[in-house]
Amino acid sequence: EAADKGAYRHFMLKEIHEQPSVVQRTLEGRLGTHQVLLEAFGPQAAALFSQVENLQIVACGTSFHAGMVARYWLESLAGISCQVEVASEFRYRKVVVRPNTLFVSISQSGETADTLAALRNAKDMGYLGSLAICNVATSSLVRESDLTLLTHAGPEIGVASTKAFTTQLVGLLLLTLALGRSKGSLAADQERQLVEELRCLPTRLDEVLSLSHTVEQIAERFSDKRHSLFLGRGTQYPVALEGALKLKEISYIHAEAYPAGELKHGPLALVDSDMPVVTVAPSNELLEKLKSNLQEVRARGGELIVFADAQAGIEHDQTTHVLNMPHISDVLSPILYTLPLQLLAYYVAILKGTDVDQPRNLAKSVTVE
Ligand code: G6P
Repeated sequence: EAADKGAYRHFMLKEIHEQPSVVQRTLEGRLGTHQVLLEAFGPQAAALFSQVENLQIVACGTSFHAGMVARYWLESLAGISCQVEVASEFRYRKVVVRPNTLFVSISQSGETADTLAALRNAKDMGYLGSLAICNVATSSLVRESDLTLLTHAGPEIGVASTKAFTTQLVGLLLLTLALGRSKGSLAADQERQLVEELRCLPTRLDEVLSLSHTVEQIAERFSDKRHSLFLGRGTQYPVALEGALKLKEISYIHAEAYPAGELKHGPLALVDSDMPVVTVAPSNELLEKLKSNLQEVRARGGELIVFADAQAGIEHDQTTHVLNMPHISDVLSPILYTLPLQLLAYYVAILKGTDVDQPRNLAKSVTVE
């Protein structure tokens, strides 16, 4: 079953389309009527979570981007300070551990050498304990961590990670809600509302997948380009990083992601009609700022590809191509807005004729340094 592409041309496309169902599976058994169930993280979770004051997240690649999204959630919803670092840096530097810090590793495979080494080093560094968010129950990372939250993405064959990322985000949002409640910093009403929104998420993801054909048409704008820029603000910044990573990995087009507010500190010098600028722009309190960033791109003759909901009010014109996304709450928006960027990378790679599932020089799981 694992090695069957079904009706899809590539594993990556199949895995993109599996996201509504694997997100559903990752939620199953973890939600009560109005709350996230603490037991989802293991029997010791309740005792441990009530002591947590800080989080140290460590991961690599796409899993690192999931950790970056989680930092916004943990600080804004749970009031828990959070640091996120790539494992290959964390493992080799002297780290100052703040009291009551939970060490969290994120990994699809649970076998990435740098992430495992970081966890092993962390054992003697005075952390409160360790939690693995992982897709493989039998992995070293799960075996060696105190607590585990398994993502139920199923086997991921495409080297470029897709469904593992969105299920990690779901797991990290569950963690945020569980910690927020344990610390008394998340109001019951807000938790109830987010639990309801999580229940509706698979339907929203399905709606986005039905826009595939439009994304496929947008992909044509990239087939002769060599460079591109991805912009986002807030939780959409790591989404932009992940979108750029997908495009690099499978289409070999150079893609850089920037928090949109940094545009004027460098990348604006690169913008011209040969460099498409992709923007993830859900309507939120940063939208007006983002719109003025887009204006800066337009003024330099840049071509914009914008993923936004109707409420954002971004108009389609000669150089601005808008893909209309379903409306979703700000908190869940990074999960939803990841999908069109995955599809974009996929369809650009198809146009370029690259080996989508096995990009050159990359491996699915990097188990040696
Ligand atoms: C490799 C894969 C990426 C993945 C990264 C981390 O580079 O190609 O898709 O994000 O490793 O892997 P992990 O299994 O730890 O999430």
